[in-house]
Formats: sequence, C-alpha cells, structure tokens
Amino acid sequence: MSRIVKIESIVPNMHLLVVEVPEIATRIQPGQFVIVRAEEEGERIPLSIADWNIDEGTITIVFMEVGSSTRALASLKEGDTLPTCVGPLGNPTVIDHYGAVMCVAGCYGIGSIYPVAKKLKEMGNTVFSVFEARSSYLLYWSNKFVPLSQRIFNITRDGSLGMKGHINRLPDIIHGLPKMPDRIIVNGCTYLMARTSEITRDMGIPTIVNLNPIMIDGTGMCGVCRVTVKDQMKFACVDGPEFNGHEVDWKEFLSRRKAYLEEEVLFYRKSESRSAIHEEGKCHS
Ligand SMILES: Cc1cc2nc3c(=O)[nH]c(=O)nc-3n(C[C@H](O)[C@H](O)[C@H](O)COP(=O)(O)OP(=O)(O)OC[C@H]3O[C@@H](n4cnc5c(N)ncnc54)[C@H](O)[C@@H]3O)c2cc1C
Ligand code: FES
Repeated sequence: MSRIVKIESIVPNMHLLVVEVPEIATRIQPGQFVIVRAEEEGERIPLSIADWNIDEGTITIVFMEVGSSTRALASLKEGDTLPTCVGPLGNPTVIDHYGAVMCVAGCYGIGSIYPVAKKLKEMGNTVFSVFEARSSYLLYWSNKFVPLSQRIFNITRDGSLGMKGHINRLPDIIHGLPKMPDRIIVNGCTYLMARTSEITRDMGIPTIVNLNPIMIDGTGMCGVCRVTVKDQMKFACVDGPEFNGHEVDWKEFLSRRKAYLEEEVLFYRKSESRSAIHEEGKCHS
C-alpha cells in the first residue's frame, strides 16, 4: 500500500500525483515507469516518473485522464493509498554527452521528459525544449524547464502561445537553430512520437521515442506490450520503453493500442451510468 502525499489537477484533464514509495524513489532513473492500480479491483496501468525526492521517499507522476483507470486514479485524495505501485520498471533513458539535444513533448510527456532534460543538462548537453498542445492553457511546468533549456519553443493548435499549428511545424523550429540537433527525444502521445519520427527521418536526426503500448505485468511475462522495431519483435516493458523512432512499425503500434478500445468505451459508459445512479441516489437521500 503506497500513500498518496499529494494529488492535484495541474491543467484541465492532467493531474499531478505524489506517492510515498521510498524503495522506488531511491532506485528510479530518468525514462523509467511504475505500474499502478488505483483500486483493488482495478487494472494495472503504466505511468512514467516525472520527478522524485529521495529524502522524502516520494515519486511524482503526471497523468492524463483518458479512460476508466485514470479517472479512478484522479478521484483519489491525499492520504488515500494505492493497492499497487510497482517499479522502477523499464530501461532508463540512455543519456550521454551528445551536444545539442531537443526534447519534444506534449500532454503527459512534458512531465515524463523533465528528468530526462535535467540529466541531459547535467551531462553538459545544450537542451532545446519543444512543447506541443491544443492551447496555451494546456501547457504546464515551463518554469521548471527554463533553467534547463537554451530555448523553449511552444506550438499551439490555436496559436495562443508560440507557433500556430501542430508538430508539423517542427522543421521550422529546427531550421531556425544555428545547427541541427544531434539528437531528439520525444515523450507524449503516439501521434506526436510517430509524426516527429517521420519528420526527423528525412532530416537524418537520431530520434528516441518513449513507447506507450498497453501493458499488464510490465515484466516481460504477458506479451501485451509487443512492438515491432527494426523488423524484430520487442517487449516495450523490458526491451524499452525507449526505441529508435525511425525503426518502430508505427502502423502496427497504433492498431495494437486500439485493440481494446470498444471494451474500454463500454466499460467507461457503464461506470458513467453507475456513478450517475449513485449520484442520483445521493441527491434523493
Ligand atoms: C511505459 C509507459 C508510460 C506511460 N506513462 C504515462 C504517464 O506518465 N502519464 C500518462 O498519463 N499516461 C502514461 N502512459 C499511458 C497510460 O498508461 C494510459 O493512458 C492508461 O493506461 C490509460 O488507462 P485508462 O483506463 O484510463 O484508459 P483506457 O480507457 O484504458 O484507454 C484510453 C487510451 O489509453 C490506451 N491504453 C489503455 N490501457 C493502456 C495501458 N495499460 N497502457 C498504455 N496505454 C493504454 C488505450 O489504447 C486508449 O487509447 C504510459 C504508458 C506506458 C506504456
Ligand atoms: S507488459 Fe507484459 S510483456 Fe510487457
């Protein structure tokens, strides 16, 4: 049982979760993740670590509410406990002195790329941060990236901050730099990772993505997280989650992520109506 020290909404649909798990906080490294269960009967979901504090024995997660499990997690309060919080899992991000590294992130990826950017800076790299969102009000943690970044670029769909458009504007940012980045690391939604990899393949910039397939055990036993990389079968939980974005079979990846979409929607609707009945019951009592 792991105690929730803090849980709050940071921007609409995005939550910050701080959990007391000293045994994980002392061992975690950038790029790794934990598997969490919000409730005893709930499913296990993988979530990346966005920060940690060894002295306080806590880890910080940024998660996006997208379905039933993340909704259950978002409903928890400070002092509640998680029945499961296992980790650290996956391989840490390989971080060396590359020169100039561009960190590209959107949605929960802004949180999960933060420890990566921090370590890149510690290793003497010049860090450029690129954040992508539908609108400026969905961006967060810019202040944490200021001391780490040579420059921060924002791309918003509605043009409310930085460049107007979506990740297709990345070439404009790259061509505006004095020289091409030596490496790009992308965290966030699948479209962001796939499209960035497509763009940078043509430019010849090595690109690392943090894959987010469906996972169950997170230890290489169930096979659910199977991905094809460079025509080889890999399990994202033990062989990744980081891979060369130019080598991922994105078409297969996208279709496997949607494998249980119908069931998830059905379950979500059922739990919606259950909570509506429950809420109604409360109103009449
Ligand atoms: C290594 C890794 C790290 C991740 N880190 C984060 C993070 O830091 N913050 C964050 O918000 N999300 C993260 N994710 C994605 C997160 O696990 C899913 O959003 C979550 O499982 C969705 O559960 P749900 O029941 O709320 O939504 P669902 O209704 O189950 O699904 C909503 C969407 O999420 C996909 N999904 C469902 N189950 C999983 C699963 N077990 N794993 C991955 N995708 C799934 C579905 O295909 C669907 O597209 C990470 C995924 C992986 C593999
Ligand atoms: S999650 Fe089961 S093998 Fe990777």
